[in-house]
This record gives sequence, C-alpha cells and structure tokens, in this order.
Amino acid sequence: MNTKPILVSGVKPTGDLHIGNYFGAMRQFVELTKEGKYRPFIFIADYHALNTMQDAEEMRRRTRELVMAYLAIGLDPEQVVFFKQSDVPAHTELCWIFDTLTTMPYLMRAHAFKDAEAKNKEINVGTFNYPMLMAADILLYDAAVVPVGQDQKQHIEIARDIAEKFNRIYKEDVFTLPGPYIMPEVAVVPGTDGQKMSKSYGNVIPLFASHDELAKAVMGIVTDSSGERPENVYAMHKLVRSEQELEAIYTEHAGKYKILKELLIADLDRYLAPIRAKYESLKDDPTLVDAILAKGRLEARTASEAKMGRVRKAIGVA
Ligand code: ADP
Ligand code: TRP
Repeated sequence: MNTKPILVSGVKPTGDLHIGNYFGAMRQFVELTKEGKYRPFIFIADYHALNTMQDAEEMRRRTRELVMAYLAIGLDPEQVVFFKQSDVPAHTELCWIFDTLTTMPYLMRAHAFKDAEAKNKEINVGTFNYPMLMAADILLYDAAVVPVGQDQKQHIEIARDIAEKFNRIYKEDVFTLPGPYIMPEVAVVPGTDGQKMSKSYGNVIPLFASHDELAKAVMGIVTDSSGERPENVYAMHKLVRSEQELEAIYTEHAGKYKILKELLIADLDRYLAPIRAKYESLKDDPTLVDAILAKGRLEARTASEAKMGRVRKAIGVA
C-alpha cells in the first residue's frame, strides 16, 4: 500500500508555452514530482479550459501539446499519474454534489469572479462555478499538497471549506482537508522588450522554438545604448549560465551587443535542444501520448471511483 502524501495539480491547455512559463513554473513543478516524497496526480484541466476555449480542433491540439511538453521537460509517467480531467467522470459528478452545498453569495466572493465582474464581462456559469470543479479535482484524491501559484491560493481555501461543509452535513469524514503548496516566486522572466514575458505582450521566446526562430527572437531583443551591458540580453542569459561565467563574458565583450546576442542564442539553443528533441520525438510517435493518458485514466478512475463510492453512500444515493 502506497502511503506517501498525495500531490494533485492541474494545468489548463491554453496558450503557447514560452520560456517564461518554463523557468517560472513548469520546471519547479516537475522537480517537485521527482522528489519521491509524494504520490503525484497531474492532470490536463480540459474542462476548466472549456470556459474560454470552445474550438474542438484547438482543444485536441493544445491538449496533446501540453502532454508532450510536460513529458519533454522531464515529467516521468512512471512516477506520476498523468491524465485528462475529462477522462475521469467523477470530477464533474462531484462538482455537481458540491454545487448543491454551496451558495451563490459565497462563490460571488471569489477573486476570479470579482475580477471578471469588474471587467464587466458576460460571465458564463462554468466560470462562476470554476472553484467547485477545482475543489472536486483536489478532494477526489485526498490531496495533501496542491502546488499552485499564489493566484490560486483562494481556490484551495474554497476546497477546504467545501470539504469541511460536506463532512459536517453528512456527519462523516469523507474528505481530507488539503494544504496548499505555493510555489516559490521565481524571478520574473523578461521578454524581448524587457517587460514580463507574456503571450499577451507578443514578446516571448517560444519554449519549442527552432534554432532559427530562437535567433530571430534574440536578435530582436530591445537594447538601450546607454550602458556597456545590454540588460535585457543579460537578464535572459542568467537563466542558462551562472552569473560568474556571465561576468567574464560580458566584461570581455563589453559594448559588443551583437556578439553577446550570438552567445545568448548559442547558450539558449544548447539548453533547449534536448527538450526540443524530446518534444519532436514524441510527435513522431503519437501512440505514446495516448498510452500514457490511457494508463493515467485507468489509475485516476480507480482512485476516484473508490472515493465516489463513499460519497454516494454518504449522501444516500447508494
Ligand atoms: P502568460 O503571461 O504568457 O499568459 P500564464 O499566465 O499562462 O502566462 O502563466 C502560466 C504560468 O507561467 C504561471 O504560473 C506564471 O506564473 C508563469 N509565468 C508566465 N510568464 C512568466 C514570466 N515572464 N516569468 C516567470 N513566470 C512566468
Ligand atoms: N485553476 C488552476 C490554474 O488556473 C488549474 C487547476 C484546475 C488546478 N484544477 C486544479 C490546479 C486542481 C491545482 C489543482 O492554474
């Protein structure tokens, strides 16, 4: 019997990945599941993504790309139960049960809802209800830790609230209260224009850029001519070389921006090449992604069905 504490996290298949996502979040995530301290369940939150992405082809493509990306950066499918949320019906089933225990005013206090409301958006019911599906994701597996960024902390508090409420109303400790694991803030990765790298600013270096794409993006990095050292180039260089090595390089080539950019291209390329190669090799064998997801689906269904058996009994439908 596996008694390690359980780790659960989900990632939405939205947006093209860039090196800001990788150095800021994805890499830490993979390291955490490698430690052997936890039994990790990681899933693609496709039903959460459905709130904003309503195009079947795009959903299929981005889901596969995200699975391949995580495998390429080192997520080990032997250690991790890796699956699609939509493959495990217990997530939406439990979400419904939680809906019946939650009031509208309570969900109206959620930050994500308030932000959407402040922007005067037409908010769909799925977005309003987002925290209930996320609570189901977490509570189905008795998660002890849920690694997320700071912005997701409230969602975990909501999951704790609903777990307590369920246990109280049905007078049985069916759910374990999860703790958050807030990933340490990693320095913001700057984009080619010096602002935070973000897909919405068009200043990204794609994680799976070819050598030529990489070269084009790096050559486009904005440099100001006031100093000896092009800060935007240096900041990106720091991701892949030690500061000590960089001191030597930037002293030797002081003021020679073109050479420094060429060195950055070579270093980024060297760093990213194995990840890119793994990604490309996964493209060549689509059955591998299918097999990993099929295995994950089976394990996640087994774990979640055991929990749902207790839930159905507790509420009196079984
Ligand atoms: P984007 O800003 O491109 O839309 P997301 O909001 O989808 O990126 O971010 C996904 C994850 O990647 C988050 O955990 C976020 O903190 C991290 N991330 C995104 N951009 C950066 C960046 N420039 N520096 C560090 N981390 C980042
Ligand atoms: N809401 C999370 C995000 O936007 C994704 C997510 C969905 C998740 N379900 C989860 C994260 C369960 C952790 C646990 O990043």
